[in-house]
Formats: sequence, C-alpha cells, structure tokens
Amino acid sequence: MNDDIPQLSDYNESSLDAAFATLGEEVRGESASLQDVEAFRLRWLGRKQGRLKLISDAWLKSAPAEARKPLGMRFNQLKQQIETALAEAEAAPAARAVKAGIDITLPGAVRAPGIEHPLLKTMNQIVAVFHHLGYSTALGPQVESDFYNFEALNFPPNHPARDTQDTLVLAGQQAKPSRDRLLMRTHTSPVQIRSMIAQAPPIRIVVPGNVYRNEAEDATHLARFQQVEGLCVDTNITFSDLKGTLDHAMKELFGSSVKTRFFPSFFPFTEPSADMQISCIFCGGKGCRKCKESGWIELLGCGMVDPAVFASVTEARRKLNPADDAYNPARISGFAFGMGVERIAMMRYGVASVATFYSNDLRFLEQFA
Ligand code: DAH
Repeated sequence: MNDDIPQLSDYNESSLDAAFATLGEEVRGESASLQDVEAFRLRWLGRKQGRLKLISDAWLKSAPAEARKPLGMRFNQLKQQIETALAEAEAAPAARAVKAGIDITLPGAVRAPGIEHPLLKTMNQIVAVFHHLGYSTALGPQVESDFYNFEALNFPPNHPARDTQDTLVLAGQQAKPSRDRLLMRTHTSPVQIRSMIAQAPPIRIVVPGNVYRNEAEDATHLARFQQVEGLCVDTNITFSDLKGTLDHAMKELFGSSVKTRFFPSFFPFTEPSADMQISCIFCGGKGCRKCKESGWIELLGCGMVDPAVFASVTEARRKLNPADDAYNPARISGFAFGMGVERIAMMRYGVASVATFYSNDLRFLEQFA
C-alpha cells in the first residue's frame, strides 16, 4: 500500500491544491459505485494502514513548519468528504442489506401457510352448521368417570348395553365405588350430563372431541376417534324438531339434494332412539358398492332424551339446590344425537382407510390445502 502513496513535489498552495484535488477525485470515484462500505472505510480511514493516515504521515514528516496549517486544513476537508460519502452509502438500503448478509436481488423465500387437518376441517364444518342454528360448543374431559360416561346416561353397572362400547379403563380404580372409577370416555355423551348439571334449560350445545374404545383396528375403526354430540333441551321439543334439525344439517354438509330417513334403534339414554341414514352421496340413492346397493348410508345415532337421564341430572343438581326442578320431564323435553367425524370425513373426501388421516403423510394432507 505504501507504493501508491502520492508524492508531493512542493508545499506551496497551488501544488497542495492540485494534490488534494486528485485525492478528492479518487474518493468521489470510489464512493460513486460503492459495493463494500466497510472495505472503503478501512481503505481510507483505517487507523494504522488507512490511506489518509499513511499520506498525512508521509507528507507532514517533511513539511516545513509554515506548511503544517494549510496541510492540516486540507486533510480535515478530505476526511470530511470521506465521512460524508460513508454516511450516504450506509443510509442506502442496498448497503444495509449487504451489511446484514442479505442479498436483496434474490427472490423472496415463500413459506406455504399451514392448513386445517381434514378431520379438524370436517369437525369445524359440522360444528359451524349447528352454531348457525344457535347452538354453542361445550367440551368435557377425555378421562371421565363411570358416572358421567355410563351411569347417568342410564347404563346401569353390569348392564349389557355397556358391551357395545368396549371400554379402556384406568388402572388401579377397583377400590373406588363403581361410579367414581375413571375410564377413557367412549363417547361425547357424558358432556350432555355435565352441561345439564351446570345449566338449566333451554340448552343447545354441540360437543366435538376425542373418544376411545378398545377396538380391533381396521379400515374403518380406530381405538381413538372423534365425535360430535348434540343436545337440545327446551319446552315443547319433539321428534319433529330432531328430524328437521338433522335433515337441515345433512343438507348443509352434503348438499341440498341429500335425503334423510330414521330407523328405530336403541340407546340407553334416548327413548325413542333412532339411527339416521342419508341417501347415498355417491350414487344419489340408485344403489352402488359404497351403499351396498341399498341407496342409503347410516350416519348417526339420535333420539329423544330419556326421562331417566333427566332424573340423574335432577339428582345431581339437588345436591347443590334441593328444590331444583329445572329438568322436570313434565315441562321440558329434548333430543340428542351423536356422529363420528372420521366416518363423515371419509365419505366427503373419498378416503378408503381411516388410518390415512393419522399417518401424517404430507402427500395426503397437501391435497386439502
Ligand atoms: N353416544 C352414542 C355412541 O357413541 C351415539 C349417540 C347415539 C349419541 C344417540 C346420542 C344419541 O346423543 O342420542 O354410540
């Protein structure tokens, strides 16, 4: 670097002016197309090897005393010119980006937004249909007591109706009274009980959530799956309200040409109980392999709330208020229903095996984006 230190021929004003004009030009030229601000700073203002320092050392050393002042003034001016050029370069966005290690000439990194899982999407859509009818969402624990999961829903201890829901029970519960024993809830119906104990009629709720059963897993069964439960209790609620509500909900979910029909069935907590079928969404009811040539697909269980359930609720509520009569079946009635989310999602998206939803295979999931 010492090599290119310019020589000063004389210390008179005009040769000083000429020498500094050359240096000023050099600074202007370099700062006009500045790529690396830091390198420019070091080259000119570096404390030990900076050009300004080397030149002033060289020139001041041999300067006569009377030339020191004019020399110093001109060095100060040159330094100011360099600092101004640096400040301008640093204020430019390109320079700031280079300093931060970002090349702003590259295209931006596009991050794909996340999507709802198809099961969550289906659950949200089911719940939304009922929200539009004035229902609110209620939730309950997945580790439930025998009382809420079975007894209050009119499944007495050892009753064969319990066999329809092969239950995963928690270990070490034998010492407790039957109704306090903990289990993994086998359905969302216990939230009916919890909600009625907590709140007097009118009540309109939907209950989405995980449920658990000791299933042999196959293409349509998992030991953990999801349900959406519904409960409506008010004065003058009839089976017609049940049919009208569910028929409307199915048309919202599967399209306005879908038909519903109701068959007698049995659940301990509803009387009468029904299974609801919808006209096959694949063949429109003509008969195909999906509906086993029947034209109909069974979709959910439902019924009018059994007075025995209201009696359990009343018993529990009277522990808090002995005069409670909010769920007197002489004045109120209600309907309930429960459906499986996976089954509905399988139908809507044409998925053949329920395990696909839980495989976390992006090639499957990205189709729902
Ligand atoms: N809890 C039932 C089950 O998991 C489904 C069900 C049937 C829920 C009828 C209801 C109902 O609320 O009224 O098999």
